Amino acid sequence: MRLLLVLFSLCLVFSATALVIVDSSLASACVYYLKGYNWGCGGTGQGHAMYKCRCGNVDWLGSVANCIATQGSNKGEIHHGFAHVALRCQQKGHYDYDAEDFKDWAANATAYLEMPAAEDKKVQVFHPLDVNATTYSYYSRSFNQINHHVFKSQWVGWGLLFFWAALVAVFTVANFMWRMFRVNIYGERLSQIYQKHLSPTTAVFGLSRWHLLIFSLFTIQTVLSTALSYKVELPNAYINDLYLLTLDLIGYRSGIIAFSLMPVVFIFGLRNNPFCFLTGLPLAEFILYHKIAALIMSIEALIHSAVWTAYAMKSGPYSVWSIDDYWRWGVAGTVLVFLMLGQSIRFFRNLMYETFLMAHKIFGWLFIVSMWYHCYILGWMGWVYSMIALTAYDRVWRLFKMFVLNRGYTNIIVTVVDDKVMKISIPKPLAYDVAYRPGCHVYLSFYHWPMWYQCFQSHPFTVISSPVVSSNLLTIYVRIKKGTTKTLSQLKTDEKGRVSMWALIDGPYGHGTSSYVESDTVVGMAAGMGICGILPSLYECPTQTKLLWVVNNINDVRLLSRDLDFLISRGANIQVLLTKSDETDDVVLLEKAFPYLVFSSSRPKMDDWVSEAVKYGSSNNSSHLFIVSCGSGSMDSDIGNSIAKYIEVGLSMAIHHQKELFVW
Ligand SMILES: Cc1cc2nc3c(=O)[nH]c(=O)nc-3n(C[C@H](O)[C@H](O)[C@H](O)COP(=O)(O)OP(=O)(O)OC[C@H]3O[C@@H](n4cnc5c(N)ncnc54)[C@H](O)[C@@H]3O)c2cc1C
Ligand SMILES: *[C@@H]1O[C@H](CO)[C@@H](O)[C@H](O)[C@H]1NC(C)=O
Ligand SMILES: *[C@@H]1O[C@H](CO)[C@@H](O)[C@H](O)[C@H]1NC(C)=O
Repeated sequence: MRLLLVLFSLCLVFSATALVIVDSSLASACVYYLKGYNWGCGGTGQGHAMYKCRCGNVDWLGSVANCIATQGSNKGEIHHGFAHVALRCQQKGHYDYDAEDFKDWAANATAYLEMPAAEDKKVQVFHPLDVNATTYSYYSRSFNQINHHVFKSQWVGWGLLFFWAALVAVFTVANFMWRMFRVNIYGERLSQIYQKHLSPTTAVFGLSRWHLLIFSLFTIQTVLSTALSYKVELPNAYINDLYLLTLDLIGYRSGIIAFSLMPVVFIFGLRNNPFCFLTGLPLAEFILYHKIAALIMSIEALIHSAVWTAYAMKSGPYSVWSIDDYWRWGVAGTVLVFLMLGQSIRFFRNLMYETFLMAHKIFGWLFIVSMWYHCYILGWMGWVYSMIALTAYDRVWRLFKMFVLNRGYTNIIVTVVDDKVMKISIPKPLAYDVAYRPGCHVYLSFYHWPMWYQCFQSHPFTVISSPVVSSNLLTIYVRIKKGTTKTLSQLKTDEKGRVSMWALIDGPYGHGTSSYVESDTVVGMAAGMGICGILPSLYECPTQTKLLWVVNNINDVRLLSRDLDFLISRGANIQVLLTKSDETDDVVLLEKAFPYLVFSSSRPKMDDWVSEAVKYGSSNNSSHLFIVSCGSGSMDSDIGNSIAKYIEVGLSMAIHHQKELFVW
């Protein structure tokens, strides 16, 4: 059903039609062919006044209709040509014509047609003009070439969409082959080459080499798509100035490419991104693609705007162009995408995430509005519809998840443990067994009077179905940060530190844990509350599990000690590193209570952890070692880099790294 909705919205894109010059090259060629003759309108332009005059002149109407009827190659093309002129007469001259009227004029004109004569350009013509094949062929070639250019632009636009579609398709096949048959479609060797040489992070925004590689390929494809294959000859009846013609062609190309990327940008940024389910990749990965596609789209939009601005400056007073609404909305759209890029810089996001998110959404909606008004005369509305459909699809899913899967407003209990950590207990939703997989996350919105103004925020948290907690409850452990989590922790509680409130639960999201078999080894590596991303994997793995956990607050350990004890009873090997201990804590007592506790004055080296994990995996004779990591800052990428160091191409044990990122 989810897929159907997405397919539906992508199909809307196919209905994109253009109404400008390129809508019907037949009609445009006929209009331009005839506009040089004297119809008593006092000019040969294409403005409102000219259309008002011409569309009221039955001789002109007869000529255009005859031209379209005789030069069109088939019924469909002719009808479309009629409809095009009818619309132009309506938009520019306010005449209420339709295609049928033009059919009648064409039939009527045949009795009165005369070949154009030289003086018809000077002296007003009082009869319909026939088509001189020699003269007309110039107009027809001119508009066909421009049309072909636009048509080609649309295809290279589809090519850019195809880039992402192909990537997602490969990931999807790989994911399903692995999940269903445990088959690695890339082969062991290729995977190891990838891990060794492509997965390490680089100095460029901390992106991995692999990401740099695909983003470079995408950029190259975009540059080639924008720059190559401009084949419109001069002289051209539409624009006969090389400079203006070039601007016009670049304008079309870049505008259409920007449009083709819009649905990509939107779909990758959705909360209900269908590709997460298909590829098994975390949303964080797609948010990265979202950023890259958005950047490229914005640059194309900027080129489009710059080129048309230059065009307007050169071809006439700028004000003649800027008076049109579609022009102004286009300017608004370009300004909006750059505002969105600017406010998405990590600095601003980290400064005030909720404000960023709110502004980002509002700008996104305004962008759709601006593109609507930019295009509803020009055409290509299919792309705009696709954005609306995608946005609506996401909202509908959210409502469905909140009010059907999770039965709407739910009473939850927040337990404040100390100033760093809280526990939230929520009743297990009815749909838990069908819809949830271990390790997924939900978005919570809190409806509580003392913090009513925050009820529109929704924060992601991993839900844990712990075997040591009542089976009809789900638990969330929350690290207290500066925003909503802080407000929650400061609420008035009962003597046990508890407060109950209403909440809306939007979920489940995320691919959940992998499924493991007997011979697998799973090593979890976590920092602080990142443990929440790891626990579900440890519960899922039947044997050979190891947990390396670094904390700086002993209460984190206290809170989860029963879960840890359970894992130990199942044979897990657990080591918890406490990096900061309170003087008031009795070290001996702590060591007694938590035998797995190790005290350390500094943070551990990820290299050591990975080497320990590899040794552990080899000692178990596992053919697959899964390193599941979840930590703040650079921890996950440090682990990835260390794994790359330990991997040798040809190694018999396959190492998989699963990052359970809590940031994006
Ligand atoms: C998939 C996922 C699972 C998570 N699971 C857990 C968990 O089990 N336990 C836990 O303690 N934390 C978890 N987090 C992190 C948690 O969502 C944030 O710490 C929390 O939203 C911070 O709220 P705040 O208003 O106090 O943050 P602030 O202090 O205002 O912001 C701190 C940081 O939190 C992040 N953040 C804030 N709001 C959002 C939001 N609406 N969406 C995404 N990120 C946001 C931003 O990176 C921001 O810079 C998870 C995050 C993700 C993405
Ligand atoms: C038919 O065409 C002639 C010549 O353009 C015009 O004078 C006449 O009004 C037209 N008749 C109709 C019914 O349109
Ligand atoms: C068509 O136009 C050309 C060039 O203007 C002219 O030489 C030719 O005689 C015209 N043909 C007819 C059939 O009028």
